[in-house]
Amino acid sequence: MKLYLAPMEGITTYIYRNAYARYFGGIDKYFTPFIASKKMNRRELNEILPEHNAGIVVVPQILTNRADEFLQITEKIAEYGYETVNLNLGCPSGTVTSRKRGAGFLSVPDALDSFLYEIYDKSPLKISIKTRIGMESLDEWEHILSIYQKYPIEELIIHPRLQKELYKFTPHKEAYLTAAKMLPEIPLCYNGDITSERSLQALLAVSPQTSCVMMGRGILRNPSLTAQLKKSDSQTRCTKDTLKAFHNEIFDNYAAQMAGETPTLFKMKDLWTYLSESFQESDKYLKKIRKASGYAEYKLAVNTLFRECELK
Ligand SMILES: Cc1cc2nc3c(=O)[nH]c(=O)nc-3n(C[C@H](O)[C@H](O)[C@H](O)COP(=O)(O)O)c2cc1C
Repeated sequence: MKLYLAPMEGITTYIYRNAYARYFGGIDKYFTPFIASKKMNRRELNEILPEHNAGIVVVPQILTNRADEFLQITEKIAEYGYETVNLNLGCPSGTVTSRKRGAGFLSVPDALDSFLYEIYDKSPLKISIKTRIGMESLDEWEHILSIYQKYPIEELIIHPRLQKELYKFTPHKEAYLTAAKMLPEIPLCYNGDITSERSLQALLAVSPQTSCVMMGRGILRNPSLTAQLKKSDSQTRCTKDTLKAFHNEIFDNYAAQMAGETPTLFKMKDLWTYLSESFQESDKYLKKIRKASGYAEYKLAVNTLFRECELK
């Protein structure tokens, strides 16, 4: 089973990816959060610089609905030695979909088809796609797949939810099976709610051929998840010392990179929304972390949590 780390805007940054690879590892492919500006701003460039991604396999992700922009960004990415880029057809956020980007692009299949024709014709790099299964209705999926059938998609990562479902309800595993039937030549990767050995087994019960899964929130909540899935043993978990060293490395690198305490704490608090779930009864400790207004207060709150809370 190949395991991928999902792109998560603002969270799975190169700083997170490097720390994850050093303390946990086991990830076959990492994806950058989406790049959306054709000139590529400093933050986006930082994500793809080879020196920020040494020793790990990384695929840069692009979010746009304009073929000229996609090709412009791809050409820049090619200069850094990448072989593949990933197209985001999954982002469900209103500001993105209202402009027919991300999952919103799925609502205009003819325009999507023309876009794909042009990028697959002209791109200097291979293109993989990360997709939802429609906007409003499950009936959209087969038509979307009939469009994907026409292109040499390097890999299709499927998060089988509709845009309107956001991150709620249960993923439609049967839609993944439909894709496997309709696109037998294209390597598929399953994404959505794989958070434990049990959820992976539930997926395999429905889709025994699955050979690749991408995980996002599951890994953020429980960084030992990759090791647990690779060893088929839910008891495999890291020590508090490892988790603390992992946290400290992320904190130190954000502190060195960001302009001041507030933006660094903002990043760390976002991470704690997930990481706190590694611990038993961590609610009141998480509140203290969220309240911290400077490094001293933050470190005190984090150290208290590490000292007083047991891992789940
Ligand atoms: C905070 C957040 C940010 C995300 N950012 C991206 C992104 O930049 N690109 C993308 O393709 N998906 C993004 N996603 C979706 C995830 O990659 C993934 O598809 C989704 O969380 C389902 O997988 P999971 O259940 O394993 O988390 C984001 C999700 C969350 C919650």
